[in-house]
Amino acid sequence: MKKILITGGAGFIGSHVVRLFVQQYPQYQIYNLDALTYAGNLENLKDIENEPNYHFLKADIVDESVMNDLFSEYQFDGVVHLAAESHVDRSISDPLSFIRTNIVGTVNLLNAARATWNGNFENKLFYHISTDEVYGSLGETGLFTEETPYDPRSPYSSSKASSDHLVRTYYHTYGIPVVISNCSNNYGPNQFPEKLIPLVINNIKKMKPIPVYGKGENIRDWLFVIDHARAIDMIFHKGKVGETYNIGGINEWTNINLIHKMCEVLDRKLDREPGTSASLITFVKDRAGHDMRYAIDSSKLMKELGWEPSLQFEEGIEKTIDWYLDNEEWMNRITDGSYEKYYKDQYVNR
Ligand code: NAD
Ligand code: DAU
Repeated sequence: MKKILITGGAGFIGSHVVRLFVQQYPQYQIYNLDALTYAGNLENLKDIENEPNYHFLKADIVDESVMNDLFSEYQFDGVVHLAAESHVDRSISDPLSFIRTNIVGTVNLLNAARATWNGNFENKLFYHISTDEVYGSLGETGLFTEETPYDPRSPYSSSKASSDHLVRTYYHTYGIPVVISNCSNNYGPNQFPEKLIPLVINNIKKMKPIPVYGKGENIRDWLFVIDHARAIDMIFHKGKVGETYNIGGINEWTNINLIHKMCEVLDRKLDREPGTSASLITFVKDRAGHDMRYAIDSSKLMKELGWEPSLQFEEGIEKTIDWYLDNEEWMNRITDGSYEKYYKDQYVNR
């Protein structure tokens, strides 16, 4: 019997990881710890909330004494740490909340694990989920590998880079068994519509302008969220302690090409004249310090652990668009008053 703490399990990626662990490992007790910020939504886990091996703990990782108390009470064997402030644009307008959650929160979890495990590290693991953004920005060629030097350029990526360094520090200094993975852009069901893909779907559906930062030439490497969750499962169970694994989609798109692709799919699915959605494309002021290109070399994960993406992008984007069209109520419930305010500050009053 293992007790696994998954932080940030009410968010986008975390909810898919929680579901996979709850369903795949009935012998584990899964504890989803989440502060339920604007990005956390327990509706994402409705289908599994009554499973006997699923438990929810509402708590803020920035609260040191609460973290210590929870670790001491539940004696977790493993931690999969996803809780974070995750949106680059928000980090530009409010860096401090990213420092608190992503750096201080991570250290609180490491300290609580260290105190609880107290030198007995058998069958213990602290798995930290991170991002490819820690590596900075690529030119036209090349890929991020596990050896690429860190060069973060936004408050978000700097806070994640700091947390990665601190996790490695706790391995080297205190012997805490850790593993880290750095993943590219995820897409799929349950993503908050501040991120490009759900924002574009929502705006096309509502015939609102599609905001494209700068010239739309920036490149991202997109991975279906369930393939990220599968990689996390493999790394948690088979990854080597002290190692880092990169996870990517082998699927690079310029933002503008991706948006055109989504426009075509949505015109077809919404029975609109071809070109209707594309007419909404609006070029807006660029993101400050906008990283040009991300692309990941996942060969270590593929060779050592046998992972590969299960879904081609064509299929993944169709599935994703279908999910958002079929779950209008989910979207309406989360795009409430506070989303309206965020949207106006980010896109209308800037
Ligand atoms: P998200 O914003 O959708 O979810 C974050 C979750 O963390 C939410 O449920 C939120 O309530 C919770 N949370 C935030 N602050 C908290 C706090 N102080 N205490 C407890 N819970 C808190 O994020 P996501 O996109 O699912 O990303 C999850 C993780 O994966 C993050 O660590 C992110 O850096 C990393 N990541 C994301 C992507 C991506 O494309 N989205 C890619 C690579 C890595
Ligand atoms: O690479 C992994 C990272 O991917 C994760 O660590 C982050 O948590 C996640 O948010 C994501 O970061 P990005 O900044 O790449 O994702 P976002 O969806 O915000 O933007 C994708 C691209 O689209 C980026 O080049 C900016 C651009 N964009 C975004 C928005 C929201 C636009 O052109 N218009 C928009 O309205």
